[in-house]
Amino acid sequence: MGRLDGKVAIVTGAGQGIGRASALALAAEGARVVVSDIADAAGEAVVAEIGRAGGDAIYHCADVGLSGDVQALVEAAVAHYGRLDVYVNNAGIAVPGSAVDISEDDWTRVINVNLSGMWRGIKFAIPQMVKSGGGSIINMASVQALMGFEDWAGYAAAKGGVLALTQQVAVEYGARGIRVNAIAPGTIMTPMNEKIFEEADDPEELASTWNSWHALGRFGQPNEVAQLVVFLASDESSFITGTIIKVDGGLSIKGC
Ligand SMILES: NC(=O)c1ccc[n+]([C@@H]2O[C@H](COP(=O)([O-])OP(=O)(O)OC[C@H]3O[C@@H](n4cnc5c(N)ncnc54)[C@H](O)[C@@H]3O)[C@@H](O)[C@H]2O)c1
Repeated sequence: MGRLDGKVAIVTGAGQGIGRASALALAAEGARVVVSDIADAAGEAVVAEIGRAGGDAIYHCADVGLSGDVQALVEAAVAHYGRLDVYVNNAGIAVPGSAVDISEDDWTRVINVNLSGMWRGIKFAIPQMVKSGGGSIINMASVQALMGFEDWAGYAAAKGGVLALTQQVAVEYGARGIRVNAIAPGTIMTPMNEKIFEEADDPEELASTWNSWHALGRFGQPNEVAQLVVFLASDESSFITGTIIKVDGGLSIKGC
């Protein structure tokens, strides 16, 4: 018996990183999973991996920056599996830049994917979840919703918006059985961060600096976030809504 037997879950940005780990972990607990991404080969590979492990998943390409794509994603999930219980709003992009230096194009792009993309998931998932008798929406925010880091103005604003949206929607739809929660990861070693390391002048020094930011003295791994996704998706978290839970190894509580 899995903790998510009978549930149907959509995970956006599930081709790699935290989304991939979440899709694998949800499927391992018995959920039927719609793996969604814009990177088709990566998404199909995750579906194959779930299948090899004995799970049930399909792939559906959707750009969360486009309303039509997100609407079609939810419709595809319901057409294939007949219901929707869990929506993991995970897809996101890392766009650096201070409030002064970020271009208007970059600002618009990061808000469109990282904030409006999550609103689109909420907008189209909730009516289906109400039909299924309730549901759990999990929004991947960041510790950057809670504290400032230099040169990440647009990204932080989007994640702060995700936190406010989480609370707002939890209030609006709680009485209809919809729980909405946000996760605030610290530094998790995913391709998003691997790219920053590849471009660093001294990757070892960067790793040592980043490790030292965390009370635990190290980065997190995608599966350490995915385990919280499973908990929030499951009925074990039945009285938890509108909250933000940090999975940050103590990043946000550490002084100098
Ligand atoms: N890695 C971290 O340290 C960290 C920390 C805090 C928050 N987060 C958040 O966690 C989430 C996942 O991050 P990650 O590190 O796994 O990222 P990642 O870059 O490794 O993976 C992101 C996935 O999203 C997909 N994607 C990108 N744009 C998309 C779009 N418009 N529509 C659909 N899919 C799209 C990519 O193809 C990719 O497969 C993001 O929302 C990110 O902001 C990550």
